[in-house]
Amino acid sequence: MLLCVWTSERFSVKAADLLKPDNREEAELLDKLDLKRLPQHLAIIMDGNGRWAQRRHLPRIAGHRAGVKAARNIIETCTRLKLQCLTLYAFSLENWRRPRAEVDFLMRLLREYLKSEMRSIHKNNIRFLVIGRTHQLPEVVRADIDDAMRLTDHNTGMRLAIALNYGGRAELVDAFNALLEDSETKGPAAVRVDEQAISDRLYTAGLPDPDLLIRTSGEMRVSNFLLWQIAYAEIYVTETLWPDFSRARFLEALVDYQKRERRYGGLSGPRERAVAAKG
Ligand code: FPP
Repeated sequence: MLLCVWTSERFSVKAADLLKPDNREEAELLDKLDLKRLPQHLAIIMDGNGRWAQRRHLPRIAGHRAGVKAARNIIETCTRLKLQCLTLYAFSLENWRRPRAEVDFLMRLLREYLKSEMRSIHKNNIRFLVIGRTHQLPEVVRADIDDAMRLTDHNTGMRLAIALNYGGRAELVDAFNALLEDSETKGPAAVRVDEQAISDRLYTAGLPDPDLLIRTSGEMRVSNFLLWQIAYAEIYVTETLWPDFSRARFLEALVDYQKRERRYGGLSGPRERAVAAKG
């Protein structure tokens, strides 16, 4: 009985109850949003900080600062909507090719972000995680990441994963090497190579695969991000540059996602399946 009351209460909650709309556009989008069909795991390629700055005749680093603000806003929105998992692509293995000053700035910005945001992240019961070849990051950055992960380790709310020094192919190489090591230590008969064995050795082990991948600033590519995990993800690309990716633009992406029909290689409705079954 108690369970029934709790369940009916839970499903009578509307998106606008969780997220106070700031304007009419947000209110209309929230009205269209079905809380029962939100992605479990959302992954975002935050692109366009540099172009945002360039258009304003500002240095690129001003774009990254504005990018952090946008990230804060989206993290807060996802927390309020009670998403299970959010993964943000912050620094790729390829990003080391950028000018030294920009790389140094990005590392400093990340440390600043951890310092200023961790208290609020922890208060909101978010469990923080960094994915990527973290052992190659500067020691001070690694120490801050370890502290942040330790602080939030027992939290039970949204999982927030920041991809840092991350590459999808490198992640697969690391997973295959972990499999080989297991086979050497436990003996080849103890290790079976199947999809689960690979998933279990990715940096994202234990997280559901992303249902939705958002990329800002218009480029139609996945840029070596979560290559294994996005096998069945819906992809949403917007021309909006990351620092301009407001709550309204985000809600628009979620509403668009909810219009998609996810078939995982199968057929759509019962009618289509019945027609196919008749041959
Ligand atoms: C893309 O812009 C963004 C990055 C290289 C990643 C940095 C992201 C942030 C600083 C925002 C959020 C950070 C945290 C820590 C949550 P770009 O420089 O590739 O833009 P461009 O393609 O226009 O040059």
